[in-house]
Amino acid sequence: MLVVVLSLSTALLCLLLFVVWKVRTNGEWALWWHDNYLERLKDFLSGTTRPVRILQYVQRCANHGDALGVISAIDSFCSTVEWAMNVGDKKGEILDSVVLETRPRWVLELGTYCGYSTVRIARLLPPGARLVTIEMNPHYAQVAKEMIQHAGLEAQSSSASSPCSQAEQTSSNATIPPSSHQLRWRLQEALLYTTLHCLQLPLQLFSRTPQNPFTSSPLLTPTERQQGSQTCKVELLVGSSSVLIPQLKKKLDIEKFDLVFIDHWKVSYLPDTKLLEECGLLTTGSVLLADNVVCPGAPDYLQYVRNSPQYQSQYFQSYLEYLQVEDGLEKSVFLG
Ligand SMILES: C[S@@+](CC[C@H](N)C(=O)[O-])C[C@H]1O[C@@H](n2cnc3c(N)ncnc32)[C@H](O)[C@@H]1O
Repeated sequence: MLVVVLSLSTALLCLLLFVVWKVRTNGEWALWWHDNYLERLKDFLSGTTRPVRILQYVQRCANHGDALGVISAIDSFCSTVEWAMNVGDKKGEILDSVVLETRPRWVLELGTYCGYSTVRIARLLPPGARLVTIEMNPHYAQVAKEMIQHAGLEAQSSSASSPCSQAEQTSSNATIPPSSHQLRWRLQEALLYTTLHCLQLPLQLFSRTPQNPFTSSPLLTPTERQQGSQTCKVELLVGSSSVLIPQLKKKLDIEKFDLVFIDHWKVSYLPDTKLLEECGLLTTGSVLLADNVVCPGAPDYLQYVRNSPQYQSQYFQSYLEYLQVEDGLEKSVFLG
């Protein structure tokens, strides 16, 4: 009997260690683990959502008006407490350098989430520049709005259907308790995830690269930080990119975008790029910077920008946010 129990326990332990190893080395497994399982577990246990937990941490740890402090606090939280789908610190440095070399006046961001990359971009923009960021999830948009404000950057928001922020109406979603018929299976899930998470901890201790949560980016000068946070205007639009892109010229009185950061759902990269072209929102020299082109990947988009005579494209190798799995950014210059 004892032998059977010991064999079963060993087999279970090996299986769990195999899952943990896959999660640390394989992008698909990592996203499945962090996005499907740990997020649900923590939502269930805390009664909040991941974006709210990130925002609360930032509000506790970063001074109001300190954009760099906000970025560092998010990086710290997401690399040591809870993973999240921000562009992250490593790819974020590539994003910074593209913003600095492009010196854009008009920037479009597709996919705001909690506002991490929005703050990252906005703090580097020259005086008079404007950043339009589009997020279709109203709850995320509300968190982003508060995040951007905490960073000391102006954040106006509007939805696709009404000039008032739809996000404000739905921001209480995070605190709605789970319905009673879901409680039983959620409890079972929670027990399983807790066990798995505990087993993951020893591996995390040995494999994480230690990070100083509050170091400054070497790319920034104090003057640039000051300039970015005081003069850039951030416009947060709530709605789907495919609906909002055709409205941008009229709605915001925009001519062309100098820089587009593409970081929403990967299936939308190519159709939205073609939509930007059709709507005449790109000009010769406009830069498209696309995140996650390796993990989860956007093969149709890559095929398009790398083979079209309208683009000059370059890949920047890096790592999936807060993990040691390969990912990268594709920078594509529109040639007209
Ligand atoms: C990877 S996250 C963005 C991360 C963010 N750029 C950052 O680095 O901090 C992708 C976001 O895009 C949003 N999204 C996905 N498809 C969209 C669409 N078609 N229109 C607007 N937002 C979209 C999702 O709701 C999600 O919040």
